[in-house]
Amino acid sequence: MLGFKSASVPVDESGKQYHLNVRKGDVPRYVLLPGDPGRVPLIASFWDESKLLSTHREYVTYVGKYRGVDVAAVSTGIGGPATAIAIEELLRVGADTFIRVGTTGALREEIELGDLVISLAAVRYDGVSKIYVEPEYPAVASLDVLLALIEAAEELGVRYHVGITASSDSFYVGQGRPGFKNYLPKQWSDIHVRLAEINVLNFEMEAATIFTLANIYGGRGGAVCAVIANRVTDEFAPGAGVENAVKVANEAVRILREWDYLKAEKKINYLSASTLSEWYLRGRKRGWRE
Ligand code: URA
Repeated sequence: MLGFKSASVPVDESGKQYHLNVRKGDVPRYVLLPGDPGRVPLIASFWDESKLLSTHREYVTYVGKYRGVDVAAVSTGIGGPATAIAIEELLRVGADTFIRVGTTGALREEIELGDLVISLAAVRYDGVSKIYVEPEYPAVASLDVLLALIEAAEELGVRYHVGITASSDSFYVGQGRPGFKNYLPKQWSDIHVRLAEINVLNFEMEAATIFTLANIYGGRGGAVCAVIANRVTDEFAPGAGVENAVKVANEAVRILREWDYLKAEKKINYLSASTLSEWYLRGRKRGWRE
């Protein structure tokens, strides 16, 4: 094992980041972030080519190409702290666009198991983002990533919802589920109901951290989650919709790369409705779309 020169900058002598075990040039700018290490090979199974780059603790990294676009998938493990480590180290090796591909619990009756939720922003019930910046700082998705996820979901014809997500560091008590021996402090007992009343769509555990850190550092974050639980109907179906979330996230990367090229070509910083309609019409002319 190679040595480390510093405790404050834990990079080994070959330039590899301590947790992810990757170095500059190993990963492209577009990175898909499932929580579950087991979901990384599933994501890569839709790519043209892929290879396992590294596995260390909860962090499994694959790199490859999806429809000609260089892409990586890195598992974050569950929750904000492990996710923040992944973002920190990925930014250091050159990534700047992060798409969470997760699972979630819906807070509204009409959101069915297997549907997808694409997050516009996230309520910061995580702890780690508060270490980085005061709670008033918004956890918002990147406009580019958000639109690419919506475009991909439309293209693939899957059921999806767009809105505000709540990200918690706690799966049980913090999401209003009874803890061991039914422990449930009053403050959290109806949190899922109160959030639904203010039009929050879903609970998950990582989006707020990704959005906050991506914004602080000038990167881009987005999230698409498969609904495996409904807290109103009290249904639970692990795995529902996961393959659709994976397909939408992969396709969003391809779309983003097209938009990034278009922005560079037109020397513009922001996507607008007219830029997007030009992109759409060009695609039709080239026979990519009906
Ligand atoms: N993930 C969560 O954080 N909550 C749920 O209810 C389901 C998945």
